[in-house]
Amino acid sequence: MDKLLIRGGNRLSGTLPISGAKNAALTLIPCALLTEEPLTLRNVPRLADIDGFQHLMAQFGVSVSIRGKRPEDFGRVVTFEASRLTSTVAPYDLVRKMRASILVLGSLLARAGEATVSMPGGCAIGNRPIDLHLQALEAFGANIELAQGYVKATAPDGGLPGGDFDFPVVSVGATENALMAAVLANGTSRLTGAAREPEIVDLCNLLTAMGAEIEGIGTSDLTIHGVKRLNGATYKVMADRIEAGSYACAAAITGGEVRLEGADAENMISSLAALRKIGVHVEEDKSGVSIAANGALKPVDLTTAPFPGLATDMQAQLMALLCKAEGTSVLKETIFENRFMHVPELIRMGADINAEGRTAVVKGVQNLTGAEVMATDLRASMSLVIAALAAEGETQVRRIYHLDRGYERLEEKLQLVGADIERVDD
Ligand code: EPZ
Repeated sequence: MDKLLIRGGNRLSGTLPISGAKNAALTLIPCALLTEEPLTLRNVPRLADIDGFQHLMAQFGVSVSIRGKRPEDFGRVVTFEASRLTSTVAPYDLVRKMRASILVLGSLLARAGEATVSMPGGCAIGNRPIDLHLQALEAFGANIELAQGYVKATAPDGGLPGGDFDFPVVSVGATENALMAAVLANGTSRLTGAAREPEIVDLCNLLTAMGAEIEGIGTSDLTIHGVKRLNGATYKVMADRIEAGSYACAAAITGGEVRLEGADAENMISSLAALRKIGVHVEEDKSGVSIAANGALKPVDLTTAPFPGLATDMQAQLMALLCKAEGTSVLKETIFENRFMHVPELIRMGADINAEGRTAVVKGVQNLTGAEVMATDLRASMSLVIAALAAEGETQVRRIYHLDRGYERLEEKLQLVGADIERVDD
């Protein structure tokens, strides 16, 4: 297992390239199942979760070809061809390693009229139920059975009729599964209370490019007119707004000046607004976002919410930044029940945080100190890296396989802007 050694104190400066969005790619890839024609995705980030999903697609008989990019480039061009499916089963040993595998449910059901997908189970940040995924598919006419830890979904002969579903809770994944099931249904489907995250817009844009008919893109009220078939397409994955927001926090905590090349400010409104309130200077243009800070950070109160609210995926990173603010900040996590796993580790680095339930009170401190810390989940790990970049002395971050799931070549990108960071074999 690898670990990261980080010696804090360097002001980050320079240009850092932003990769394609993990959470967009993970919902765009299963769209390949909706057509016999090739689907080519550009700007696919080189991440463990993406490799896992490519492996899962091969499991169904989908051909996956990675081409074009040189090894030193960030991102890849990947072509998926599902001309013929040899299986509609997503087995436990693959799904347990990558819970986003549940996102094949809707597209397998739409294409083949059946899908057998292992229940993903929970993870460090919460028990992550999939009841809304299943309720939406049932509303479209699917028959759902749960047996031996698997979801077995079947469509009536002739395919899903389609239908209406109102989400009682905003769910990104359930909205994505519902969209992929509805595009090939025999009738019109309507989703109300749907998630509006930019990754959902990216999915709707790809489906439209493939020939789907979707109204209300970008809103929580989506109408999908089912079509007989979808074509292949070539599509560029959107920039990763959470990666960009994470590196913005890293630049800010070091009092640095970093250009996030390729970041899309449109998709980062709430994170950039939070950074501006903290006193970070943010400039946006059509090809990226520039971050500058002079060391003085103001405390702010933040509450996570579904888009366009503050992304829960940015909570841990902003908390790390606020550990060095001049005053007390209050952070409320409304989406997941256990997303403060970074708190005890940040405290070991000298932070002053009191977390109770879904609220964390962060009292800014003068100095953080390097320590041996443990990554627990993807975004918590990034918050430790951010704190380490501003801590006195050396920090060792262990179990960085969590980071490799969501940050493409993190240490190389941070080295590009002057961080003293290296990956060593633990
Ligand atoms: C997606 O997860 C993201 N993952 C998460 O990013 C992100 O934190 C989350 O959306 C919220 O923005 C991917 O896109 C692969 P949800 P998802 O369904 O779809 C409850 C990261 O760090 N819920 O919107 O699983 C659920 O328990 C990851 O990149 C149900 O109750 O999130 C949670 O409290 C972490 N029943 C809330 O809804 C369901 O059927 C939001 O979950 C589904 C969800």
